[in-house]
Amino acid sequence: MKHKSILYQDKAIINYQDEGQGNQTLVLLHGFMNNLDVWASYVFKYMKEIRVIAIDLLGHGETSDLGESHTMEMQADMVKSVLDNIGVKDCVIAGHSMGGYVALAFAERYPDTVKGLTLINSHALKDTEEARENRIKTCEIIKNNRASFIVSFMPDLFFVGNRERLYPEIKDLQDMAMGMKAESIIAAQKGMMERPSRLDVLVNAKFPILFLAGKQDPRIVMEKVFAQAMMPQHSELMMIENVAHMIHVEAKSIVQHRLLSFTKMCYI
Ligand code: MLT
Repeated sequence: MKHKSILYQDKAIINYQDEGQGNQTLVLLHGFMNNLDVWASYVFKYMKEIRVIAIDLLGHGETSDLGESHTMEMQADMVKSVLDNIGVKDCVIAGHSMGGYVALAFAERYPDTVKGLTLINSHALKDTEEARENRIKTCEIIKNNRASFIVSFMPDLFFVGNRERLYPEIKDLQDMAMGMKAESIIAAQKGMMERPSRLDVLVNAKFPILFLAGKQDPRIVMEKVFAQAMMPQHSELMMIENVAHMIHVEAKSIVQHRLLSFTKMCYI
């Protein structure tokens, strides 16, 4: 599957994949320190039935940095620019964790482009004070010891009972993150720290919203997901036992089926 790129704002290379065809389009946005390769098996499966676009977010994968903080709004505008470049008028947008924050910002700024939204291990609240303080500490750790941060960060995203079985996937994710500069990792943390609550996007959405959650996700308590799934006019919630923060990797086949059927439903 070929990678493509555009030059954004005359200075940043944006790397993406655009596969399959037809009127039904799904856009996939990865999480913090991942890149579009995390979706490889999804793109391969979906391209036979729909158009599927995976994008490396700013500072991730082969996409350039664009400043010291990559805000969710900057990321959303960059995604829109890719879609405009390749003539995509509407899409279902799905984001994992940080990618979900970007998808929410995209839905807020470009609601007419959105046919449906999927939040994968993600949510619409802003950071708590404690979360902000933790991000400041994390930035210090990354400055001083990027590699050991990456090595210890990845396994913790997986349910403990999945870590041995999914060791090759964890290793791939560590390798992806090792390709990132400390400044890019910090820019992502700063961008997430600055994001506002987007509960109003959920409440006002004129499109269906799918929440995919892991019951053992250490980063997102289930009560948050329950409460937010009650807000939209049309929402769907799938929660899986023995899954943590990487549901699209830990329960890959189930998520592949669910996300594809949701995308098609959004185009009915
Ligand atoms: C992610 O996986 O993208 C991050 O856990 C999101 C976050 O730090 O809030």
